[in-house]
Amino acid sequence: MKIGNFTTENNIFLAPMAGVSDMSFRKICRRWGAGMVYSEMISAKGLYYNDKKTAELMRIDSSERPCAIQIFGSDAEIMAEIIPKVMEFNPDIIDINMGCPTPKIVNNGDGSALLKNPKLIGEIVRKVSDASPVPVTVKIRKGWDSNNVNAVETAKIIEANGAAAIAVHGRTREEFYSGTADWNIIKDVKNSVKIPVIGNGDIKTAADAKSMFDFTGCDAVMIGRGAEGNPFIFRQINEYLRDGFVTCSPTPIDRLNQMTEHIEMLVAEKGELRGIKEARKHIAWYIKGLPNASRFKITVFKINTISEMRQALTEYITHLQ
Ligand SMILES: Cc1cc2nc3c(=O)[nH]c(=O)nc-3n(C[C@H](O)[C@H](O)[C@H](O)COP(=O)(O)O)c2cc1C
Repeated sequence: MKIGNFTTENNIFLAPMAGVSDMSFRKICRRWGAGMVYSEMISAKGLYYNDKKTAELMRIDSSERPCAIQIFGSDAEIMAEIIPKVMEFNPDIIDINMGCPTPKIVNNGDGSALLKNPKLIGEIVRKVSDASPVPVTVKIRKGWDSNNVNAVETAKIIEANGAAAIAVHGRTREEFYSGTADWNIIKDVKNSVKIPVIGNGDIKTAADAKSMFDFTGCDAVMIGRGAEGNPFIFRQINEYLRDGFVTCSPTPIDRLNQMTEHIEMLVAEKGELRGIKEARKHIAWYIKGLPNASRFKITVFKINTISEMRQALTEYITHLQ
């Protein structure tokens, strides 16, 4: 799939997810067949003021490319000015977050708050596109609330100001993550712009991805929560779209082996204690539905060292075999 002058490996992408789509998870999803991955959202202001932790989130390993770095903010000048800092990490794409619903973000006028200000959206996209040597994309929601559904109008502004693609999550800000995503709005956006449209919201299975393509006519799909504890979904979607059926069907042991590797990667990436703490949510997702999952969860959530973690994992895996 072409985004500006850049070609992705396929059109099934891992969504940007703060606290989830870090380097370890992105590498794993790429290996399972994600055509492109996105960083966690990066604060433009944080970069502007040289915050070290913000910059750390932008590290990209060669094995995970193509990778987009997603920035958020609402000051067009600052967002354009930090592009050289973002480019030090060589992203393949720079994505702008116009969808985050979190009060902390929205109260600063960032994320989905921008949907209330189409003029500012145009200014941000224009300035960032002009400053960026790589294609710029934008991720939006359906609108601010049910009385302000403006994704089509917003998408047209985004296209007119130089963006190379647009991702649409079919929920309003007011809905956060509740209810079901409205795929009609993705279809409407697709029918209103010429740049590629990436459909997002509620893809949990390979069949869902096919339905999203068929229903909306979108050019790519983006998977968020459906990939949590389930990076296998990318291979499954690739198989389903190519062959019409899925052979990739990980057993509980396959899941636990992938989980074990994921924990080791997090520890290598972030250090022992932080890696283990951040692994906890992933563990909960990987083991969901497995025998004795709740008991195992209680045990591992108390663990703070990798040696104890390895022992607990070995015992659980042996028990399941
Ligand atoms: C834990 C979590 C973190 C998220 N962080 C971001 C983010 O940093 N940037 C962004 O644009 N969207 C973020 N999102 C939204 C997702 O990218 C996606 O739009 C949303 O989850 C809907 O897709 P899904 O139904 O496939 O999960 C986040 C979602 C979740 C669940």
